[in-house]
Amino acid sequence: MTQTVVSIEHLQKHFGKFQALKDITFDVQAGEVFGFIGPNGAGKSTTIRVLLGILKASGGTAQIFNQDVWSKAVTIHNRLAYVPGDVYLWPNLTGGEMIDFLLKLNHQKHSAKTDALIKEFELDPKKKSRTYSKGNRQKVALIAAFSTDADLYIFDEPTSGLDPLMEEIFQKHVLALKQQGKSVLLSSHILSEVERMCDRIGIIRAGEIVETGTLEEMRQLTRTQITVETQVDVAPIAQLAGVHGFTADQSVDNKATFAVDTAQVGAVMSDLAQRGIVTLQSTPPTLEDLFMRYYNSEGAEGHDTK
Ligand SMILES: Nc1ncnc2c1ncn2[C@@H]1O[C@H](COP(=O)(O)OP(=O)(O)OP(=O)(O)O)[C@@H](O)[C@H]1O
Ligand SMILES: [Mg+2]
Repeated sequence: MTQTVVSIEHLQKHFGKFQALKDITFDVQAGEVFGFIGPNGAGKSTTIRVLLGILKASGGTAQIFNQDVWSKAVTIHNRLAYVPGDVYLWPNLTGGEMIDFLLKLNHQKHSAKTDALIKEFELDPKKKSRTYSKGNRQKVALIAAFSTDADLYIFDEPTSGLDPLMEEIFQKHVLALKQQGKSVLLSSHILSEVERMCDRIGIIRAGEIVETGTLEEMRQLTRTQITVETQVDVAPIAQLAGVHGFTADQSVDNKATFAVDTAQVGAVMSDLAQRGIVTLQSTPPTLEDLFMRYYNSEGAEGHDTK
Protein backbone atom coordinates (compact mmCIF):
# COMPACT_ATOMS: atom_id res chain seq x y z
CA MET A 1 0.00 0.00 0.00
CA THR A 2 1.42 3.36 -0.94
CA GLN A 3 0.89 6.49 1.00
CA THR A 4 0.86 9.94 -0.57
CA VAL A 5 3.27 12.25 1.20
CA VAL A 6 3.20 15.25 -1.13
CA SER A 7 0.16 16.04 -3.22
CA ILE A 8 0.06 19.05 -5.52
CA GLU A 9 -2.91 19.73 -7.77
CA HIS A 10 -3.19 22.47 -10.37
CA LEU A 11 -0.95 24.68 -8.30
CA GLN A 12 -0.60 28.27 -9.46
CA LYS A 13 1.52 31.14 -8.28
CA HIS A 14 1.76 34.60 -9.70
CA PHE A 15 4.03 37.45 -8.74
CA GLY A 16 2.01 40.50 -9.80
CA LYS A 17 1.22 39.94 -13.46
CA PHE A 18 3.88 37.30 -13.90
CA GLN A 19 2.60 33.74 -13.64
CA ALA A 20 5.54 31.73 -12.32
CA LEU A 21 3.44 28.57 -11.80
CA LYS A 22 0.60 27.93 -14.24
CA ASP A 23 -0.40 24.36 -13.61
CA ILE A 24 1.66 22.07 -11.40
CA THR A 25 0.29 18.64 -10.54
CA PHE A 26 2.34 15.80 -9.10
CA ASP A 27 2.62 13.67 -6.00
CA VAL A 28 5.36 12.02 -4.01
CA GLN A 29 4.68 8.66 -2.38
CA ALA A 30 6.19 7.31 0.84
CA GLY A 31 9.53 5.64 0.25
CA GLU A 32 9.99 7.33 -3.09
CA VAL A 33 12.71 9.61 -4.45
CA PHE A 34 11.00 12.04 -6.81
CA GLY A 35 13.20 14.02 -9.19
CA PHE A 36 12.08 17.49 -10.15
CA ILE A 37 13.87 18.77 -13.22
CA GLY A 38 13.51 21.70 -15.57
CA PRO A 39 15.46 24.60 -17.02
CA ASN A 40 16.39 27.77 -15.12
CA GLY A 41 13.36 29.80 -14.18
CA ALA A 42 10.91 26.94 -14.83
CA GLY A 43 9.43 27.19 -11.34
CA LYS A 44 11.13 24.45 -9.30
CA SER A 45 12.17 26.65 -6.39
CA THR A 46 8.84 28.48 -6.45
CA THR A 47 7.00 25.15 -6.17
CA ILE A 48 9.27 24.15 -3.30
CA ARG A 49 8.76 27.48 -1.54
CA VAL A 50 5.01 26.98 -1.75
CA LEU A 51 5.46 23.48 -0.29
CA LEU A 52 7.50 24.92 2.56
CA GLY A 53 4.79 27.49 3.33
CA ILE A 54 7.15 30.38 2.50
CA LEU A 55 5.02 31.51 -0.44
CA LYS A 56 1.23 31.44 -0.55
CA ALA A 57 -0.25 29.75 -3.61
CA SER A 58 -2.46 31.79 -5.93
CA GLY A 59 -4.54 28.77 -6.93
CA GLY A 60 -4.78 25.00 -6.73
CA THR A 61 -3.90 22.87 -3.73
CA ALA A 62 -0.69 21.65 -2.12
CA GLN A 63 -0.62 19.19 0.76
CA ILE A 64 2.10 17.44 2.71
CA PHE A 65 1.11 14.54 5.00
CA ASN A 66 -2.49 15.29 3.93
CA GLN A 67 -2.32 18.76 5.43
CA ASP A 68 -2.47 22.12 3.72
CA VAL A 69 1.05 23.49 3.29
CA TRP A 70 0.09 27.06 4.13
CA SER A 71 -2.23 26.74 7.12
CA LYS A 72 -0.47 23.71 8.63
CA ALA A 73 3.12 24.77 7.90
CA VAL A 74 4.26 24.56 11.53
CA THR A 75 2.96 21.02 12.05
CA ILE A 76 4.33 19.87 8.70
CA HIS A 77 7.79 21.27 9.45
CA ASN A 78 8.17 18.96 12.43
CA ARG A 79 8.45 16.06 9.99
CA LEU A 80 10.36 17.77 7.20
CA ALA A 81 13.99 18.58 6.39
CA TYR A 82 14.97 21.06 3.71
CA VAL A 83 18.18 22.01 1.96
CA PRO A 84 18.20 24.97 -0.42
CA GLY A 85 20.66 25.37 -3.30
CA ASP A 86 21.82 28.69 -1.95
CA VAL A 87 22.62 28.08 1.67
CA TYR A 88 22.70 31.15 3.87
CA LEU A 89 24.61 30.81 7.14
CA TRP A 90 25.20 33.24 9.96
CA PRO A 91 28.73 34.46 9.27
CA ASN A 92 29.90 34.58 12.91
CA LEU A 93 28.85 31.06 13.81
CA THR A 94 31.21 28.20 13.08
CA GLY A 95 30.02 25.39 10.82
CA GLY A 96 29.56 23.15 13.84
CA GLU A 97 27.50 25.77 15.70
CA MET A 98 25.45 26.34 12.59
CA ILE A 99 24.72 22.62 12.24
CA ASP A 100 23.58 22.45 15.88
CA PHE A 101 21.45 25.55 15.38
CA LEU A 102 19.76 24.07 12.32
CA LEU A 103 19.16 20.85 14.24
CA LYS A 104 17.65 22.75 17.15
CA LEU A 105 15.27 24.55 14.81
CA ASN A 106 14.04 21.13 13.76
CA HIS A 107 13.82 19.89 17.40
CA GLN A 108 16.72 17.52 16.78
CA LYS A 109 19.88 16.82 18.74
CA HIS A 110 23.49 16.60 17.66
CA SER A 111 24.10 12.85 17.54
CA ALA A 112 26.80 10.34 16.70
CA LYS A 113 25.33 10.37 13.22
CA THR A 114 26.00 14.12 12.99
CA ASP A 115 29.67 13.52 13.84
CA ALA A 116 29.90 10.72 11.32
CA LEU A 117 28.39 12.96 8.63
CA ILE A 118 30.80 15.81 9.44
CA LYS A 119 33.65 13.37 8.98
CA GLU A 120 32.26 11.84 5.84
CA PHE A 121 31.60 15.18 4.17
CA GLU A 122 35.07 16.32 5.27
CA LEU A 123 33.80 19.53 6.82
CA ASP A 124 35.96 21.46 9.28
CA PRO A 125 33.26 22.42 11.82
CA LYS A 126 35.52 24.84 13.72
CA LYS A 127 35.78 27.41 10.96
CA LYS A 128 33.54 30.46 10.90
CA SER A 129 30.73 30.20 8.39
CA ARG A 130 31.89 33.34 6.63
CA THR A 131 35.06 31.58 5.51
CA TYR A 132 33.18 28.70 3.87
CA SER A 133 33.00 28.16 0.12
CA LYS A 134 29.64 27.50 -1.54
CA GLY A 135 30.27 23.75 -1.36
CA ASN A 136 31.11 23.95 2.34
CA ARG A 137 27.95 25.94 3.06
CA GLN A 138 25.94 23.26 1.27
CA LYS A 139 27.68 20.60 3.32
CA VAL A 140 26.57 22.34 6.54
CA ALA A 141 22.92 22.24 5.45
CA LEU A 142 23.19 18.68 4.12
CA ILE A 143 24.78 17.39 7.35
CA ALA A 144 21.99 19.00 9.38
CA ALA A 145 19.33 17.55 7.06
CA PHE A 146 20.77 14.04 6.96
CA SER A 147 21.10 13.92 10.73
CA THR A 148 17.48 15.03 11.09
CA ASP A 149 14.94 12.30 11.57
CA ALA A 150 12.18 13.44 9.20
CA ASP A 151 9.62 11.75 6.97
CA LEU A 152 10.12 14.04 4.00
CA TYR A 153 13.37 15.53 2.75
CA ILE A 154 13.24 18.36 0.24
CA PHE A 155 16.45 19.20 -1.60
CA ASP A 156 16.49 22.14 -4.00
CA GLU A 157 19.59 21.70 -6.16
CA PRO A 158 21.64 20.71 -3.16
CA THR A 159 24.74 19.53 -4.95
CA SER A 160 25.52 22.37 -7.37
CA GLY A 161 28.62 23.27 -5.34
CA LEU A 162 29.80 19.77 -4.48
CA ASP A 163 32.69 17.97 -6.12
CA PRO A 164 32.09 14.47 -7.56
CA LEU A 165 33.31 12.69 -4.42
CA MET A 166 30.93 14.64 -2.19
CA GLU A 167 28.18 14.20 -4.74
CA GLU A 168 28.61 10.46 -4.35
CA ILE A 169 28.31 10.73 -0.58
CA PHE A 170 25.16 12.79 -1.02
CA GLN A 171 23.67 10.11 -3.28
CA LYS A 172 24.57 7.39 -0.80
CA HIS A 173 22.69 9.14 1.98
CA VAL A 174 19.64 9.82 -0.18
CA LEU A 175 19.46 6.14 -1.10
CA ALA A 176 19.79 5.24 2.59
CA LEU A 177 16.81 7.48 3.36
CA LYS A 178 14.84 5.72 0.68
CA GLN A 179 15.69 2.33 2.15
CA GLN A 180 14.32 3.55 5.47
CA GLY A 181 11.03 4.33 3.73
CA LYS A 182 11.51 8.10 3.82
CA SER A 183 10.39 10.31 0.95
CA VAL A 184 12.63 12.64 -0.98
CA LEU A 185 11.82 15.49 -3.34
CA LEU A 186 14.97 16.39 -5.20
CA SER A 187 15.25 19.23 -7.66
CA SER A 188 18.42 18.97 -9.67
CA HIS A 189 20.21 20.04 -12.81
CA ILE A 190 22.48 17.04 -12.63
CA LEU A 191 20.57 14.60 -14.78
CA SER A 192 22.87 11.65 -14.09
CA GLU A 193 22.07 12.14 -10.39
CA VAL A 194 18.34 12.09 -11.10
CA GLU A 195 18.69 9.14 -13.46
CA ARG A 196 20.54 7.12 -10.85
CA MET A 197 18.46 7.90 -7.79
CA CYS A 198 14.93 8.87 -8.67
CA ASP A 199 12.02 6.44 -8.83
CA ARG A 200 9.88 8.93 -10.70
CA ILE A 201 10.62 12.19 -12.40
CA GLY A 202 8.61 15.32 -13.10
CA ILE A 203 9.71 17.68 -15.85
CA ILE A 204 8.65 21.29 -15.38
CA ARG A 205 8.80 23.92 -18.08
CA ALA A 206 7.62 27.52 -17.87
CA GLY A 207 5.46 26.88 -14.81
CA GLU A 208 3.83 23.71 -16.10
CA ILE A 209 4.51 20.02 -15.54
CA VAL A 210 5.06 18.62 -19.02
CA GLU A 211 5.73 15.02 -18.02
CA THR A 212 5.76 12.77 -14.97
CA GLY A 213 6.60 9.12 -14.71
CA THR A 214 9.38 6.63 -14.29
CA LEU A 215 12.35 6.90 -16.60
CA GLU A 216 11.10 3.73 -18.31
CA GLU A 217 7.68 5.27 -18.91
CA MET A 218 9.27 8.39 -20.30
CA ARG A 219 11.45 6.35 -22.60
CA GLN A 220 8.27 4.89 -24.09
CA LEU A 221 7.35 8.38 -25.22
CA THR A 222 10.47 8.88 -27.19
CA ARG A 223 12.81 7.35 -29.71
CA THR A 224 15.59 4.84 -29.83
CA GLN A 225 18.62 5.72 -31.93
CA ILE A 226 19.66 2.94 -34.31
CA THR A 227 22.73 2.48 -36.51
CA VAL A 228 22.47 -0.58 -38.73
CA GLU A 229 24.22 -2.25 -41.63
CA THR A 230 22.25 -4.79 -43.69
CA GLN A 231 22.99 -7.24 -46.50
CA VAL A 232 20.30 -5.94 -48.82
CA ASP A 233 19.12 -2.41 -49.55
CA VAL A 234 18.41 -0.54 -46.30
CA ALA A 235 16.84 2.55 -47.92
CA PRO A 236 13.15 1.36 -47.76
CA ILE A 237 13.39 1.48 -43.95
CA ALA A 238 13.09 5.25 -44.25
CA GLN A 239 9.45 4.78 -45.35
CA LEU A 240 8.39 2.69 -42.34
CA ALA A 241 6.06 4.16 -39.74
CA GLY A 242 7.87 5.60 -36.73
CA VAL A 243 11.24 6.06 -38.47
CA HIS A 244 12.72 9.53 -38.26
CA GLY A 245 15.86 11.27 -39.46
CA PHE A 246 16.98 8.45 -41.74
CA THR A 247 20.55 9.15 -42.89
CA ALA A 248 22.41 6.78 -45.19
CA ASP A 249 26.12 6.30 -44.51
CA GLN A 250 28.07 7.82 -47.39
CA SER A 251 31.06 5.52 -47.14
CA VAL A 252 29.46 2.12 -46.39
CA ASP A 253 26.72 0.57 -48.55
CA ASN A 254 23.47 -0.33 -46.78
CA LYS A 255 24.47 1.37 -43.58
CA ALA A 256 22.23 4.00 -42.04
CA THR A 257 21.41 5.85 -38.85
CA PHE A 258 17.88 6.77 -37.78
CA ALA A 259 15.58 7.13 -34.78
CA VAL A 260 12.53 4.94 -34.13
CA ASP A 261 9.49 5.68 -31.98
CA THR A 262 9.69 3.21 -29.11
CA ALA A 263 6.28 1.76 -30.02
CA GLN A 264 7.52 0.86 -33.53
CA VAL A 265 10.87 -0.66 -32.59
CA GLY A 266 9.55 -4.24 -32.90
CA ALA A 267 8.14 -3.75 -36.40
CA VAL A 268 11.27 -1.99 -37.63
CA MET A 269 13.49 -4.72 -36.16
CA SER A 270 11.65 -7.50 -37.96
CA ASP A 271 11.90 -5.59 -41.25
CA LEU A 272 15.64 -5.13 -40.65
CA ALA A 273 16.03 -8.82 -39.83
CA GLN A 274 14.59 -9.71 -43.23
CA ARG A 275 17.28 -7.57 -44.83
CA GLY A 276 20.01 -9.53 -43.04
CA ILE A 277 21.55 -7.53 -40.22
CA VAL A 278 25.35 -7.26 -40.48
CA THR A 279 25.86 -4.87 -37.54
CA LEU A 280 23.39 -3.15 -35.28
CA GLN A 281 23.76 -0.57 -32.55
CA SER A 282 20.76 0.61 -30.61
CA THR A 283 20.87 3.37 -28.00
CA PRO A 284 17.89 4.04 -25.73
CA PRO A 285 17.30 7.68 -24.90
CA THR A 286 19.00 9.05 -21.81
CA LEU A 287 17.27 11.38 -19.41
CA GLU A 288 19.29 14.12 -21.02
CA ASP A 289 17.78 13.30 -24.43
CA LEU A 290 14.31 13.42 -22.91
CA PHE A 291 15.02 16.64 -21.14
CA MET A 292 16.46 18.26 -24.26
CA ARG A 293 13.42 17.19 -26.23
CA TYR A 294 11.16 19.29 -24.01
CA TYR A 295 13.71 22.01 -23.64
CA ASN A 296 14.22 22.40 -27.38
CA SER A 297 10.54 22.34 -28.21
CA GLU A 298 9.92 25.23 -25.83
CA GLY A 299 10.45 27.89 -28.49
CA ALA A 300 8.53 25.98 -31.14
CA GLU A 301 5.47 25.50 -28.94
CA GLY A 302 5.59 29.10 -27.89
CA HIS A 303 5.05 30.08 -31.52
CA ASP A 304 2.11 27.70 -31.86
CA THR A 305 0.21 29.00 -28.90
CA LYS A 306 0.70 32.70 -29.52
N1 LIG B 1 9.68 36.68 -5.60
C1 LIG B 1 9.58 36.69 -6.94
N2 LIG B 1 9.07 37.75 -7.58
C2 LIG B 1 8.94 37.77 -8.92
N3 LIG B 1 9.28 36.74 -9.73
C3 LIG B 1 9.80 35.66 -9.16
C4 LIG B 1 9.98 35.57 -7.73
N4 LIG B 1 10.50 34.35 -7.46
C5 LIG B 1 10.65 33.73 -8.64
N5 LIG B 1 10.23 34.50 -9.67
C6 LIG B 1 10.21 34.13 -11.08
O1 LIG B 1 9.50 32.93 -11.20
C7 LIG B 1 10.11 32.09 -12.19
C8 LIG B 1 10.44 30.74 -11.59
O2 LIG B 1 11.52 30.88 -10.70
P1 LIG B 1 12.14 29.67 -9.87
O3 LIG B 1 13.16 30.25 -8.97
O4 LIG B 1 11.03 28.90 -9.29
O5 LIG B 1 12.84 28.82 -11.02
P2 LIG B 1 13.72 27.49 -10.90
O6 LIG B 1 13.03 26.46 -11.71
O7 LIG B 1 13.99 27.18 -9.48
O8 LIG B 1 15.05 27.92 -11.64
P3 LIG B 1 16.60 27.56 -11.33
O9 LIG B 1 16.84 26.27 -12.01
O10 LIG B 1 17.34 28.66 -11.97
O11 LIG B 1 16.78 27.51 -9.85
C9 LIG B 1 11.32 32.85 -12.71
O12 LIG B 1 10.96 33.50 -13.91
C10 LIG B 1 11.59 33.86 -11.62
O13 LIG B 1 12.18 35.00 -12.15
MG1 LIG C 1 15.69 27.13 -8.31
